[in-house]
Amino acid sequence: MKVGILTRNEESWCSAQLRDSLTDHDVLPFCFDFPSLAARVGFKPEVSADRTDLLRDLEAVIVRPIGRGSLEEIIFRMDLLHRLERLGMYILNPPAAVERSVDKYYALALLEEAGLPVPRTIVTESAGGALEAFHELGCDVVLKPIFGSRGIGSTRVSDHDVAERIFRAVDFNHQVLYLQEFVPHGNHDVRIFTLGSRALASMWRVADSWKTNVSLGARPAPYEPPANIKRLAIEAAETVGCEVAGVDILETNKGPLIVELNSQPGWKGLQTVTEVNIADEIVHYVLDRTRGRRNER
Ligand SMILES: Nc1ncnc2c1ncn2[C@@H]1O[C@H](COP(=O)(O)OP(=O)(O)O)[C@@H](O)[C@H]1O
Ligand SMILES: [Mg+2]
Repeated sequence: MKVGILTRNEESWCSAQLRDSLTDHDVLPFCFDFPSLAARVGFKPEVSADRTDLLRDLEAVIVRPIGRGSLEEIIFRMDLLHRLERLGMYILNPPAAVERSVDKYYALALLEEAGLPVPRTIVTESAGGALEAFHELGCDVVLKPIFGSRGIGSTRVSDHDVAERIFRAVDFNHQVLYLQEFVPHGNHDVRIFTLGSRALASMWRVADSWKTNVSLGARPAPYEPPANIKRLAIEAAETVGCEVAGVDILETNKGPLIVELNSQPGWKGLQTVTEVNIADEIVHYVLDRTRGRRNER
């Protein structure tokens, strides 16, 4: 039995954990990346990586970060995952969920429509519109790349002149302006890792500044959230269709706000403050889901 890990770097910590866990469960891990894939139409195999026919040889595919790429590459990658899923492959996360959550506007809008609390956010293509938004949001905003992660490129802007200068530059580059009210959070937030309909593990991320990404140096601290916060994270993941998710929640004096939902969350930091073996849990989950599926293909 073989399970695929779609990863840019098979030596990365999370991919290595998944590989080891699969091996411990007598499953052969098969690591591959997008550039190694060939997709065929009109003849078979429909999708192959080197000599591996994905649909014939793999029971499931676990998707690690789909990575950066041109718009064309990203759309092709998503189309390819959708095709694999249509042809019966079990993919974690489902491609539709990945698509919804990599787009911060799409995901946040879905969360709001589901009645979940999110920060006030304005998205626009024009510098003029963004400047109005800056004032509407109280002249203290976080400007984020609409497709971004790990805190990279997010900037807090609270000065009108700086705002105007930055918004014009972003507009000039034909990038979308995603502006969110700055939510004071005491330099820490909550990360909840959900799997299926469970809050599998949680932590506080404690930083020296307002960005609490572990990749930027925030320190994981053990945290057992109250039931309502866990429920919020599970509902957020379900709303977007993520079977696995990393949900970022800011605790404010007006209650919790969901700031982001990651469909390809890492867990290196989280693993240091939880007893649960996250890679094993993911592998159990995938093996449970794939049992008996092959006969249906
Ligand atoms: N509106 C906000 N107000 C205050 N801090 C924020 C806000 N949005 C994000 N942050 C901080 O910046 C970090 C990164 O933002 P996030 O939306 O999670 O994007 P990503 O992690 O994909 O770069 C968050 O974990 C949080 O610490
Ligand atoms: Mg985040």
